[in-house]
Amino acid sequence: MTDRELLQCAVEAREMAYAPYSGFRVGAALLGKSGKIYKGCNVENAAYTPTNCAERTALFKAVSEGEREFVSIAIVGGRYEAIADFCAPCGVCRQALAEFCDPDFRVVLGTPDNPQVFSFKELLPFGFGKSDLE
Ligand code: THU
Repeated sequence: MTDRELLQCAVEAREMAYAPYSGFRVGAALLGKSGKIYKGCNVENAAYTPTNCAERTALFKAVSEGEREFVSIAIVGGRYEAIADFCAPCGVCRQALAEFCDPDFRVVLGTPDNPQVFSFKELLPFGFGKSDLE
């Protein structure tokens, strides 16, 4: 699975985005260590705060199906039909991913034509984790 292919899966996931309020449609494709890909989209709500981001949709699908170890995630987003050049994950999604992802987990942003790869530790250098509770 190349970065471009994973971004293409995120583009496919974005097709299912339910974003009637913001018009901002996001898709994520999360690659598990098993080799399985979990796709997610944002799902908005009329009460706004129950909205779920694409990344957490993908993560919760994966964990609820028994996958807890991950290689990489690709994310694409943009208003209405257009896909932006770059769509970074929000802070809540970074924290949610931190529960399951190693510092070297790969975050693939950009577009299938121009992938931009980051390590998870670059995106969340001082996240709160299990060890903080000890
Ligand atoms: N959104 C995501 O799905 N992922 C992010 O990381 C940032 C924001 C969604 C939430 C909301 O439906 C829309 O984008 C606008 O914020």
